[in-house]
Amino acid sequence: MVAKNRSVLILAAGKGTRMKSNLPKPLHAVCGFPIIAHILRAAQQLKPAAIGIVIGHGAQQVKQTVLDNMSAWGVTTPVEFFVQTELAGSGSAVKAALPFLQKQESVMVLAGDTPLLKAETLAQMYEQFENAKAGTMVLAVKVPNPAGYGRIVRDGQNQFEKIVEDADADGTIKKIDEINSGMYVFNSAALVQALAKLTPQGPKHEYYLTDTLAFIKQEMPALVFTSADYEQALGVNSREQLAQAAQIMRARINRYHMDNGVTLINPQDTYIDAGVQIGADTTIASGCYLLGNTQIGQNCTLESSVYINNSVIHNDVTLKLGTYIEESEVAENCQLGPYAHLRPKSILKKGAKVGNFSEIKKAVIGEGSKVNHLSYIGDTQMGAGVNVGAGTITCNYDGKNKHTTVIGDHVFVGSNVNFVAPVTVHEYAKIGAGSTITKEVAAQGLAIARSRQVVLEKKGVKKND
Ligand code: UD1
Ligand code: CA
Repeated sequence: MVAKNRSVLILAAGKGTRMKSNLPKPLHAVCGFPIIAHILRAAQQLKPAAIGIVIGHGAQQVKQTVLDNMSAWGVTTPVEFFVQTELAGSGSAVKAALPFLQKQESVMVLAGDTPLLKAETLAQMYEQFENAKAGTMVLAVKVPNPAGYGRIVRDGQNQFEKIVEDADADGTIKKIDEINSGMYVFNSAALVQALAKLTPQGPKHEYYLTDTLAFIKQEMPALVFTSADYEQALGVNSREQLAQAAQIMRARINRYHMDNGVTLINPQDTYIDAGVQIGADTTIASGCYLLGNTQIGQNCTLESSVYINNSVIHNDVTLKLGTYIEESEVAENCQLGPYAHLRPKSILKKGAKVGNFSEIKKAVIGEGSKVNHLSYIGDTQMGAGVNVGAGTITCNYDGKNKHTTVIGDHVFVGSNVNFVAPVTVHEYAKIGAGSTITKEVAAQGLAIARSRQVVLEKKGVKKND
């Protein structure tokens, strides 16, 4: 089928009063993306010629977030913004975008608060609208609890008659369980004419976009597109609905990964953001959080309560209980934890190990090197085959600046060593336990920097070790 000239208009100006938030509603996150990103990503899949967004409440913040992130979200269609100055309802929001409508043949209007919408449903609906040469089409679903939504009122022939808002519904209409999803397609010219006929309605004297459908029906077919998948219509108006939306999306995401060969021990308690990729035969225990753009390879094992944000984990990695990884990269065959912490810009090369209660920050841990117990390694370049004893600390901060520690290949670091940076230890050097290293150590050198043991015997006689 030849793609017609499609366009999408997203309404994102509303105050979102019921969220009780300083953050504009479209920017609240659901599984790692702001709500508006989910809507834009679905809109993008329709390959529209243009996308418009109506902004109002928090306009600048919404606009900037979209402009800064749209390419990362995969949105390539140029986005135009229209400011709604008076927040007088969804009808007045669309009116704010009149210059947009006047350029389009047809337009799909989407609410800015329905993150669960599905691109394939929208595509089917748009196609049906085009084939039917309709004036308008609304996506309707039957829901278990229609409270709060606009109801679809049908006539004696079961055809669309009008939409009645919850606030204006009488007892009979409140019983209707077929609701308006807030997603529509319009013939643009028909919509422009109908907008001019709107009058303020309801307790808040708002201009309802939903009233345009009955006006358009007087001139052109007004059709209902139904979907059995009612979850996709969930509108986020409150924190409770935000949590519901996240729960539904999480279940979708988890199903997707399981379908691709990932084992989730307890999917109800596994939190994977929409942008995460996971290889087959990886096993993930309960309580894990995989966030942002995280990528996990094949054959990895994540024990419970592992937290990973914006990081890359390659194949065959084991992450034991409670491991916490931020903005870092872990090569094949590494092993971390229990309770290891990689802070941003850490890189573990092949087969490296970072164990119990060790913290790594902005450091490279070379191939096969081990930092197994109770250590802090920051701002460090560590070569291959290094063994770091328990309790070793890089003293990277002098109160003003951060300094680098360089540890060459195959260095052996005894337990409880301090490296006072900047300092370099060359390959195959050995550092005695308890040393505080402040100066360069030559290759294969042995550095011991601790005071000699003194034993005071009972009689008061001094004896050296
Ligand atoms: C709206 C529909 C309702 C539907 C429901 C689906 C109307 C009148 N009612 O109700 O039939 O069942 O969505 O979720 O449209 N907005 C603006 N400017 C405004 C007011 C709203 O841009 O002045 C935007 C909001 O940001 C939001 C969308 O329009 O994205 C819908 O507004 P909202 O207040 O959430 O409408 P509902 O009461 O949920
Ligand atoms: Ca809503």
